[in-house]
Amino acid sequence: MHAPRFSQLDRLLTDTREWWQFMPFSTSQSEWEQRHPVLTQWLLGLDEQQLALFRQDAGLLAGALSRWIPQAAAMHQLATLEALPQVERATPRGLEAGIPGRKWQQLQAFNGVLPALSLPWLEWCAGKGFLGRVLAATHNTPVTSLEWQQALCDSGDAAARKLGLPMTFVHGDAFSPQSGKYILSKQHAVALHACGDLHVSLLQRVAECRGQAVSVSPCCYHLIRARAYQPMSTLAQQSELILSKHDLRLPLQETVTAGNRVRNLRFVEVSFRLGFDSLQRCVTGQDDYLPVPNVQKALFNEGFEAFCRWAAEQKGVVLPDTIDYAHWQRVGEQRFDWVERLELLRQLFRRPLEMWLVYDRACFMEEAGYTVTVGTFCDKPTTPRNIMIHAERQD
Ligand SMILES: C[S@@+](CC[C@H](N)C(=O)[O-])C[C@H]1O[C@@H](n2cnc3c(N)ncnc32)[C@H](O)[C@@H]1O
Repeated sequence: MHAPRFSQLDRLLTDTREWWQFMPFSTSQSEWEQRHPVLTQWLLGLDEQQLALFRQDAGLLAGALSRWIPQAAAMHQLATLEALPQVERATPRGLEAGIPGRKWQQLQAFNGVLPALSLPWLEWCAGKGFLGRVLAATHNTPVTSLEWQQALCDSGDAAARKLGLPMTFVHGDAFSPQSGKYILSKQHAVALHACGDLHVSLLQRVAECRGQAVSVSPCCYHLIRARAYQPMSTLAQQSELILSKHDLRLPLQETVTAGNRVRNLRFVEVSFRLGFDSLQRCVTGQDDYLPVPNVQKALFNEGFEAFCRWAAEQKGVVLPDTIDYAHWQRVGEQRFDWVERLELLRQLFRRPLEMWLVYDRACFMEEAGYTVTVGTFCDKPTTPRNIMIHAERQD
């Protein structure tokens, strides 16, 4: 039963909201200094090496932050997940043709933790049906693969024919009522990395028609149609937490230590954006964060001034001729350092929040009469979205 774990995590996350439910971009350093002077000093005192160390080791981060956030250790422990037992399933030669290496590892790991129920499969949001291909070849039961993009269906269908696999591709919209007809009671439904509402809709529909089994690995929790998160289980519906799309992005903000090139690109883009934000606050007299749209990365090669002129045009801000751009660029760089440290603080809540979302799904299926298993199906380098929720009816 996952309800007790959900409730404990819910309490801890609710009590610590001030530490993670905010936007680092629009947060003023001086306000933080006033409210939490020692923590602010600690964060600002971290050098690049220490930042990297804490990013890689959630336990170390929880230990260090428990001085200010006493719930840190309990939350870290509750968010730790066991690996599911793997069964080695030999795949015929040639099956991996056209499948990128890391995806192939994910597919084998996902297949390796699925129970063999000898049921037909439904592959939800199948892409080119890579997972369905592995299931069809190793379980000898037919697969129906539902996918929204016709080109992906065509490509998957061609590969399945070539390999002689019992797969049927359905070009359809997972949200449309018509797609409901593909969900059967004697079936094992699967979804590997179906985003937000897409895997949620599968769980709801399987529960509705009392499907025998369903296994999903959730991702992109923020890709939802509503403005805020719609809790699935009655337990989560009673929670005080209201999760915005910004909050729902947190589980995906894995700050895996990036290479120098990626780090530098991020530094330039984020510090330019923050520098422009400080500049526009000064020019307009409005002390509010002004988000600027995404743009081709090439613009950042043209320098800070060119970026500010473009951003000002986008947002209808009139820039006077006397601006000291070098000054505002330095301001942006300092703010970047501050944002990085606040992001580190929020990292403490990344996996706990993901587990809150996962346990909401698990509790929903349990409330619908399913026996639910939650665990990891592969290690993080293979994919950071490595959680599987498996729900099965015992009747
Ligand atoms: C992240 S990919 C995952 C694909 C595949 N399961 C895998 O892991 O390789 C999500 C897939 O969902 C499909 N998709 C998005 N919206 C959909 C919808 N409304 N109905 C059906 N499929 C959809 C996309 O076209 C894409 O192929």
